Amino acid sequence: MPIDYGHISKTYDNFRSYRYSEIMQLIGFGKIQAGMKVLDLGCGTGNLSAQLLECVPVEAIGIDKSLGMLKKANTKALQVLCADADANPLPFKNDSFDIVIGAYVIHHIRSRTALIKDCFRILKDDGAMILLTSSHDHIERLHPVIREFFPSLIELDKKRFPDTEELDDIFQTAGFDDIRHEELVLSDIPIDMVYLEKVKNKFVSTFYLLSDNEFQAGVAKLEKFIANSREPVSREWRGLMMYGKKSSG
Ligand SMILES: C[S@@+](CC[C@H](N)C(=O)[O-])C[C@H]1O[C@@H](n2cnc3c(N)ncnc32)[C@H](O)[C@@H]1O
Repeated sequence: MPIDYGHISKTYDNFRSYRYSEIMQLIGFGKIQAGMKVLDLGCGTGNLSAQLLECVPVEAIGIDKSLGMLKKANTKALQVLCADADANPLPFKNDSFDIVIGAYVIHHIRSRTALIKDCFRILKDDGAMILLTSSHDHIERLHPVIREFFPSLIELDKKRFPDTEELDDIFQTAGFDDIRHEELVLSDIPIDMVYLEKVKNKFVSTFYLLSDNEFQAGVAKLEKFIANSREPVSREWRGLMMYGKKSSG
């Protein structure tokens, strides 16, 4: 089932934002510095760029194919452009950006190799491509609620998310070197009524992959778990950051 980001755009910002610690980890990992020109690929409502801009004064441009998501992004401090990242070439000249970031978008892309090659083209020498995503290990083991409450999502998500080895191959094929990975860790996520509300509102597109019956059963189980918890429960989420450099020469 295709994910309808026009529909999701209406509530996305109510349930999704980055923690300050995530942005700071991204800045360190990607060596993002003031004055750099950054492309936010699949920028959605522009959260990542807007929050990045609060920490480091870069020039941020976002592209996305959903007009609904872009309408929200357009109210924030980045420039936006409607473009389908699957329809190469991207609408930018060679050597345009210092950094290209694709945050939680690569699983939506059909022609991944073509896209990453085109990102290489639009990066300046010594520029870098950064992906935020989930590896199969993260999907299997390191999600706060999926394994216990929505177990069939594991195989569904593994089908759509490329695993680390596939991404490594694509980065190498595209010409990137200095390929590095780092785990993004969100600790102390409260599994409480606020979290339940986020799940009920399908705050990650993953939940749209389930049949309505399975989704409702998982929500009911999670609700019961929260109601029966005597102590506050918090869990960790772990994801993957991946980096590749376009070395000069
Ligand atoms: C999970 S959201 C992530 C949004 C944003 N990067 C963030 O971290 O909040 C995925 C975004 O990718 C966009 N997207 C999916 N396929 C795309 C494509 N082929 N070209 C451009 N954007 C795409 C969707 O419209 C959606 O806004």
